Amino acid sequence: MGLKIEATDIDFHQLIEYSLNSIWIVSQEGKIVYCNRACLELLKFASTEDILYKNLYDFLPSDIHAGCKERLKRVLQKQEIVERAEQKMICSDGEVIDIEITAAPYYLKDMILTQVIIRDITDRKRTETLLKERVKLASIGQIAAGIVHEVKNPLTSVKGFLQLLKESQPHPYINTMEAELEKALETLENLLHVSKPDLHEEPFVPIDLCKELTSVLFLFQEKLYNVEIEWDLRDSEKKVFGKRNLFLKAFFNLMKNAIEGIQGKGKIRIEHYYKSGQIHIKVSDTGVGISEDKVKLLGTPFFSTKSEGTGLGLTQVFTTIHKHGGNISVQSVVGKGTTFHIQLPVK
Ligand SMILES: Nc1ncnc2c1ncn2[C@@H]1O[C@H](COP(=O)(O)OP(=O)(O)O)[C@@H](O)[C@H]1O
Ligand SMILES: [Mg+2]
Repeated sequence: MGLKIEATDIDFHQLIEYSLNSIWIVSQEGKIVYCNRACLELLKFASTEDILYKNLYDFLPSDIHAGCKERLKRVLQKQEIVERAEQKMICSDGEVIDIEITAAPYYLKDMILTQVIIRDITDRKRTETLLKERVKLASIGQIAAGIVHEVKNPLTSVKGFLQLLKESQPHPYINTMEAELEKALETLENLLHVSKPDLHEEPFVPIDLCKELTSVLFLFQEKLYNVEIEWDLRDSEKKVFGKRNLFLKAFFNLMKNAIEGIQGKGKIRIEHYYKSGQIHIKVSDTGVGISEDKVKLLGTPFFSTKSEGTGLGLTQVFTTIHKHGGNISVQSVVGKGTTFHIQLPVK
């Protein structure tokens, strides 16, 4: 026989104290007079004493204080429930997190206080930024593909006429002109590849990425006498479903960058392993590294810090990984090295 539970049996204090939402009661001046367990977790504090009776504004970046005070005033004076707003908050360790905040009046005896509810939306914000980046990349790619088509046709006809000219009126400059034209056409071809990789309608096949990683490395053999290679390839029986040539190209681009990043002697480490439904590939180098402000630009077409660079390598890598439902992240320390971490779903 089940126990009969009445609504009056519920311990409301406990319910609030252990609620999954972080709930705060704030005085008219902004002093925190109550905060539940979720607040501690949110801001990474160990005990309530660290927060209680401090000012809520101590945990908010100073540039949003004025806006928050305005909202608080609406709660206290007009007794409104203020709409949700996205803000930032400062944790005990200094980390700034994205939050969503809403507030309503809370009546205690003859006073009006404010009940504040805060939600951590860091993960959601991160996903949103990632999505925006992808949309941006895709639209830049589409524009680029359009331009490539427009420019390639006249260049190809110039190439044809140069050929005819060479036959009828040979001139030593014509060879140089042809070589330069060839370079331009190659750049356009590369751009077309990264922006519209589907032009070649390659079929999806099961791929052993360990095998592809090894075969790509062989292409660099003569460049490798100053670079030590460390392998850790596991779980090669797990296959990724996709377009083989795109992966070959992507690995080529990653390894080329790793080698170019190493000045003098250095090491490249290549890992392949399977973990919870995903293939992980890591390409690490002990090269020059990438500064934090530049990491954001990686994958943007034409972003290059090299005098002879095209800035199309990583665009191809990023599009290939995204196209196969995967993810790629970069960790880098200037002067120490860089790691590209790829995750791909296994079908
Ligand atoms: N492994 C790496 N180490 C250091 N910098 C890197 C690495 N990979 C990429 N980069 C940076 O990213 C930029 C863009 O790379 P990429 O798209 O391949 O173009 P490119 O190699 O032609 O410059 C490079 O110019 C370089 O600044
Ligand atoms: Mg490159």
